[in-house]
Amino acid sequence: MVAISTSVTTSSTPTPKDVRSLGINPNHWYAVARSTEVVDQPRAVVLWGDAIVLFRDAAGEIQALEDRCPHRQVKLSQGEVTEGQMECIYHGWRFDAAGHCTHVPYLAENQKLPSCKIKTYPVQERDGFVWLFPGDRDRLATDNIQPLTLPEWDHLNYIATVSVIEVAAHYSFLIENLMDMYHGRLHDDYQAWAEPVLAELTATSERVDVLYNAQSYYRIDKIWSVSQLFFPSLRRLHPEELRVSYAYPNWVSTLGQDFKICCLFCPISPTQTRAYLIHFTSLQAFHRLHKLPVAFRRWIKNSLFGAAQKMLDGLVEQDVLMLEQEQAAYRQNPDYKGPELNRALISVQELIRQQAADSTTAT
Ligand code: FES
Ligand SMILES: [Fe+2]
Repeated sequence: MVAISTSVTTSSTPTPKDVRSLGINPNHWYAVARSTEVVDQPRAVVLWGDAIVLFRDAAGEIQALEDRCPHRQVKLSQGEVTEGQMECIYHGWRFDAAGHCTHVPYLAENQKLPSCKIKTYPVQERDGFVWLFPGDRDRLATDNIQPLTLPEWDHLNYIATVSVIEVAAHYSFLIENLMDMYHGRLHDDYQAWAEPVLAELTATSERVDVLYNAQSYYRIDKIWSVSQLFFPSLRRLHPEELRVSYAYPNWVSTLGQDFKICCLFCPISPTQTRAYLIHFTSLQAFHRLHKLPVAFRRWIKNSLFGAAQKMLDGLVEQDVLMLEQEQAAYRQNPDYKGPELNRALISVQELIRQQAADSTTAT
């Protein structure tokens, strides 16, 4: 029997190398917003303590600046985009994508524009998301670091649903939750699999891949298959491979051929995490789909966007409740270590440690 101490200490100082206090490795691309969240006005985001403003320049390209006006240090994101440049709300100074001041409304004839330079971040749009690289730019180039790809996002045979996770917890709690398939008890009818058994585990310095053998009702090969999602009594289980990967800093999971979920992490602070959970349903089993006009297929894809919203939001709500309790309990008693029976989570914690260490030796 495992002895469990439930005594609560009043200390809030975490132990050294405690995974719950470790930082992120900034030498990766992070999904900080959806493309549709950055339109004609600036958008404020925070990535591991860095306040950043996103905006579109005159060409419609996404740009990212530190969210701090160099004049009086107010938030640039409270201003507006004028002629493709960031205009501060306070005195109306304008800044271009390189972070240089280009305009001061009250500049006298004998004055020069102030030679300020705001910090910029490499940023790109890909697969429906805005990806930002907060790390070492030399390493970005020499190592050719790329964001996670989501080919299903634009593929006409995949229906996407997005749920936003806002959780008051360290990101390690969230990734452990996502890698641990043994918490189906919590999700009940929302979960598409049952009886998982960990069969394979591989871990490197970049990722952890786990195969669970499971049972699933989820197979979208007939029109009426979709009804199983809504009516549990229609569900028939069959063996299915459930694969989950911590492809640092993100999570990817597949259940058989027709079901994929990704989680794009944007850790905000040691106690706050934002993430995008994306579910894809595949229509690949309908072999004649490609004979339909592309415009019609796109219409179907767009019309069905969000089809799994209830399921996804339900999963998130249930998980967030658990994660915030874990974080609160950790804050009360940071030295407590609960027994862990899923060896995948040991590998996940090891990867977090390696990546955090990598970030401190990289620059
Ligand atoms: S504080 Fe931004 S222009 Fe003055
Ligand atoms: Fe869950």
